[in-house]
Amino acid sequence: MKRHQCGWSTTGVLAVIVIVAIATAAVTALLVNVLERKNEAKQPFLRLVEVTEDTTDPAEWGINFPNQYDSYLRTAESTRTRFGGHGGSEALPEQKIERDPWLKRMFLGYAFSIDYRDRRGHAYMLVDQEETARQTKPQTGSCLHCHASIMPLYRKLGDGDAMAGFEKSYQYSYKDLNAELHDMGHGHAVSCVDCHDPDTMALRVTRPGFIYGIQALAEGEAEVPHLPTVQKWRESNRAAPYDPNIDANRTEMRSFVCAQCHVEYYCANKMPLTFPWGDGLTADNVEKFWNDTTFDDGQRFFDYKHAESGAEILKAQHPEFELWSQGIHARSGVACADCHMPYQREGASKASDHWVRSPLLNVNRACQTCHRVSEDEILSRVDAIQQRNFDLLQRGGAALMDLLDAVQKAKEEGATAEQLTQALELQRKAQWRLDFIAAENSMGFHAPQEAARVLGEAADYARQGQVAALLWRESGAVPVARHAEEAGSPVADD
Ligand code: HEC
Ligand code: HEC
Ligand code: HEC
Ligand code: HEC
Ligand code: HEC
Repeated sequence: MKRHQCGWSTTGVLAVIVIVAIATAAVTALLVNVLERKNEAKQPFLRLVEVTEDTTDPAEWGINFPNQYDSYLRTAESTRTRFGGHGGSEALPEQKIERDPWLKRMFLGYAFSIDYRDRRGHAYMLVDQEETARQTKPQTGSCLHCHASIMPLYRKLGDGDAMAGFEKSYQYSYKDLNAELHDMGHGHAVSCVDCHDPDTMALRVTRPGFIYGIQALAEGEAEVPHLPTVQKWRESNRAAPYDPNIDANRTEMRSFVCAQCHVEYYCANKMPLTFPWGDGLTADNVEKFWNDTTFDDGQRFFDYKHAESGAEILKAQHPEFELWSQGIHARSGVACADCHMPYQREGASKASDHWVRSPLLNVNRACQTCHRVSEDEILSRVDAIQQRNFDLLQRGGAALMDLLDAVQKAKEEGATAEQLTQALELQRKAQWRLDFIAAENSMGFHAPQEAARVLGEAADYARQGQVAALLWRESGAVPVARHAEEAGSPVADD
């Protein structure tokens, strides 16, 4: 019985051998094919010309990587979405300060009230900086950090040491440093060498402002659950400072290359360009960092004095990396490049789309790889987020204008600077929050709930400031800046 149950007939054995042989041949053929394709994918290019650290001209890299170069060139094309992707080949993009007049009044006393436009594609970054009417005010050499292929010039200024050159660059005028850049033949917008190692093509960061900024973030205590290698470094013996080019993982690098520029910063002639991340990346963390910063002359930090009120104002600039850091996408490991440089297939090889632009022009590859819903539905979800953000932003702007009106009126009635101290401190707090979200370029998309929180606080501080200005005769009666924490936490203490 037993033998019979387990037995094999001769024909059965032969059949199995034949099937196994066929299957093996098929699997081998498949493996060979996969390997070939993998190699094809790994080496989609022939290195036809040698590129080095000094090759800033993207056209030369383009000989080796025609695919990426072709898409890179398309950043010169005109694009448009409702809130983003403006500009292109027209003379200059639209003025933001004309579209939202409260922005202009908010910036009175600063060059942004003269000229502040929509951004456009990377191809224009250097010319737009050269041509902005903000250049009618003296600007510092630091500006070039994010608008040109600047590293060879930093090396020259630092006798070979780029970090040392960077530290000096703020003392030069924009005009002098920019002339030098062009003389050296490096007058290009952000180029391949800024994000890629010329020998290996590995992603890397080059910008000193970012390298110092991310080191300060690592050395601080702010929670950064979306940056696991920063956490890992904190738990290590910290023998060397956190170095993104050594310590970061690939997912992080796919955002860090953008965070070399799409961030809040100080950029003027009192100290080197500074990314304010020592206390963390939220609007409140960055405000604390600036509040704790003093210049060499002992003056507390501010970007400009408001021309109407005299308040010492903090100006926010494009904090895309910071806001993204607070959102669910960052938390889920979705990098800037996933949405703004999605893969496109060319035969067997995948290439990253170097036409960096609004992902809403490219929902199929930018979003639908993860979100299996229709393009219409995705666009409508984004529109709902952006519309809510836009409405809150406008309300915040109106509240700030009311504060400024109240300050004007109090001054006309004879209020002294001292009696307006509280109102002006509240203007600083309100305006910082409003500008943080207004200057961020996703209209709230990168972190919708965080954007709403910041705008809610902005409107609250603006109204508190308005009340303080209206009650200037009773100055001292109104407590300075009531914070959310003071209201107490609904969670019971343990
Ligand atoms: C989950 C996808 C996603 C990720 C991740 C993401 N973005 Fe965006 N980003 C968007 C969307 C959607 C918009 C809104 C575009 C619009 O309004 O046309 C946007 C807008 C922008 C804009 C303005 C675009 C324009 O056309 O004017 C910039 C700049 C930007 N993002 C930079 C970044 C940076 C830098 C990072 C990483 C720190 C990042 N984004 C991460 C989806 C993303
Ligand atoms: C830390 C990087 C960084 C530095 C430093 C920097 N920029 Fe920019 N700049 C950007 C980014 C990113 C954008 C695109 C996003 C935007 O427009 O908000 C931009 C946009 C611009 C634009 C086009 C939109 C507009 O504002 O009208 C101009 C002009 C400009 N910058 C001028 C300057 C000048 C002048 C300086 C020096 C005072 C400077 N930038 C310093 C990163 C930087
Ligand atoms: C060297 C600095 C620098 C780096 C690095 C950089 N950007 Fe930009 N980016 C800019 C500047 C400056 C502008 C505005 C140019 C202008 O308006 O003339 C800009 C514009 C944009 C725009 C608006 C494009 C449009 O069509 O309106 C998007 C989107 C964007 N950048 C995303 C990214 C992403 C994503 C990365 C990383 C893969 C990145 N940038 C890396 C400086 C930089
Ligand atoms: C603002 C940063 C940035 C600039 C500038 C840039 N790249 Fe890239 N590049 C990336 C990112 C991000 C990836 C994706 C890499 C990854 O995930 O490993 C990439 C990938 C690549 C790859 C690998 C294959 C692929 O497509 O994913 C090649 C080759 C490449 N880039 C060539 C170029 C060339 C050539 C230029 C200049 C014309 C250039 N890059 C400019 C950010 C940049
Ligand atoms: C690499 C994957 C990936 C890509 C690409 C991606 N998303 Fe997401 N998205 C996620 C994940 C993960 C979440 C978190 C929710 C979840 O776990 O399902 C999310 C959440 C969202 C949410 C809810 C946001 C919130 O705050 O609750 C929206 C809206 C969204 N994505 C839109 C987009 C759009 C628009 C794009 C393209 C521009 C995009 N996503 C690209 C993975 C992705």
